[in-house]
Amino acid sequence: SLERPIVFGNWKMNGLREDGLALARAVATAPGKGTLGIFPPATILREVILAVEGSNVIVGAQNAHSEDFGAFTGSISAPMIKDVGGTAVLLGHSECRHGLGEADADVWGKAEASARADLLTVICIGETDDERTAGRRDAVLRRQIDGSMPRGSDVSKLVVAYEPVWAIGTGKTPSESDIVSAHAFVRERLDAIFGRESRIPILYGGSVKAENAAAILALEGVDGVLVGGASLDAESFVRIFQAGQ
Ligand code: G3H
Repeated sequence: SLERPIVFGNWKMNGLREDGLALARAVATAPGKGTLGIFPPATILREVILAVEGSNVIVGAQNAHSEDFGAFTGSISAPMIKDVGGTAVLLGHSECRHGLGEADADVWGKAEASARADLLTVICIGETDDERTAGRRDAVLRRQIDGSMPRGSDVSKLVVAYEPVWAIGTGKTPSESDIVSAHAFVRERLDAIFGRESRIPILYGGSVKAENAAAILALEGVDGVLVGGASLDAESFVRIFQAGQ
């Protein structure tokens, strides 16, 4: 099982070779206990893996297709990620669900492909601002968990990231009690599906910065964080990891 705190950085569509490799090297030398992971763009995945070799930093991709190979222009697959030494993948990120039209069933198929390749699979879920305002947060989380996490998966290879869509890249975060209640709801649902012993880590994501990381990482039910913007700056990202010590 992954040592807490779990601090993952999603670089999104950022990272040319020079800056990306420097960032990866800085992350690889960060002192502290816990689990660090980075998700660079696929173009530099292999070089980042080589740059952090010998460290415990997990390196993964930001998406993967549900098929292993085939006529799917522009996509990469779980076996390809594994082939270059990647050990993890983010799936169902809101920018893919809402930007690329990924449905729960698509994420489910991708998660099955990721499991076949034995990758650590980070399933992202979260409600939009409209859904939250309408009081539908938990219904949305339930639908996403039930619809995008295959039953019978190896639970030791699963992570859930709760990322309210309205908190991503906006500087807004839910109140502490809202984060705690969302994580408690997710935990209850994971227990119901995968069993109480599953202990699947639940990360919070959405405007995590060096300044708010200590408070968020200390919350009940928060096993770690998935960081976007602040993961692009080595000092900020390492400070977030240190905030969880
Ligand atoms: O995957 C990361 C999330 O989308 C959070 O992004 O930290 O820039 O708000 P952010």
